[in-house]
Amino acid sequence: MVNEVLTLLKNAEDYLSGEEMSKVLGVTRASIWKTINKLKEQGYTIESSTRKGYRIKEVPNIITKSEVLEELHTQLLGREIVYYEEISSTNEEAKQLAREGCQEGLVVIADQQLLGKGRLGRNWSSPAGTGIWMSLVLRPPILPLQASTLTLVAGLSLCEAIEAVTGLEARIKWPNDIVVNGKKVCGILTEMSAELEGIKYVILGIGINVNTPHFPEDLPYASSLYLEGKQQYIRKDILKEFLMRFEKDYFTYLEVPTFQNFIQRYEAKCITLNKKVKILASSQEYVAYAKAITEEGMLKVVTEQGEEKIILAGEVSV
Ligand code: BTN
Repeated sequence: MVNEVLTLLKNAEDYLSGEEMSKVLGVTRASIWKTINKLKEQGYTIESSTRKGYRIKEVPNIITKSEVLEELHTQLLGREIVYYEEISSTNEEAKQLAREGCQEGLVVIADQQLLGKGRLGRNWSSPAGTGIWMSLVLRPPILPLQASTLTLVAGLSLCEAIEAVTGLEARIKWPNDIVVNGKKVCGILTEMSAELEGIKYVILGIGINVNTPHFPEDLPYASSLYLEGKQQYIRKDILKEFLMRFEKDYFTYLEVPTFQNFIQRYEAKCITLNKKVKILASSQEYVAYAKAITEEGMLKVVTEQGEEKIILAGEVSV
């Protein structure tokens, strides 16, 4: 009902009476009144006049299903959305829904996560009203080995979406941290369930610090788009831009599932290349020169001893 009333109010040129809405939607006026109150609770400013009815004055900066679905031009990604004001972790919820057989493209969105998970077993702080905490369910017909490439593709689409919406110079720290002015503003946590012959599902968990006002001192490398751009951004604009761009890239990737078609775009955004980096791989730490990205999306480095190595995962600091 919330979606329907919202659509009517948004499309109305002027005030719309409770009676008109109840007729169009075939529900009681009391139910319209209740829905209006729900919308007000979500933060919509709705003017009401006893004679004329209701009119929307201001739409809040929220990422509910109805706000995200409006003008979302995709065929697959986000066609089904599950929104929570509060949840432990959108990745956990998405995994559960994927196990229950949900369709590919389903997106779980939360305004706040109580137990947000980061990579390498870390926590991901996900306060209310500030960021985009979302998980996307994919069922790509590729081999489990190829799934990490998909995360790189998503990182690239995300980086370009942020740049397009905010105008900020977003860059990628290999493999898929998005940084602005050298500070991390987004992270991706990919989880998957697979058998030898194929993938059952991939969960792409994406955290974007959009309007976070500050970070604890022990996280000097973390930031938000707001802190770097010195202005607040509309969360749904970034989310939708990402879904639309990633869908296009995902379809391209499925045609030929290698990173080949993306290397040029990725290298243009990657800050890890052509410099000395510190590699922390399986409890070993060494310095190497980052040279290129391979067709599998791995990092090619040359050690100080002149040995060429391919880095699959692990931590790289610039
Ligand atoms: C990283 O450590 O860089 C990855 C962070 C991923 C955080 C996102 S927020 C939405 C989704 N749900 C989670 O619990 N984690 C991911």
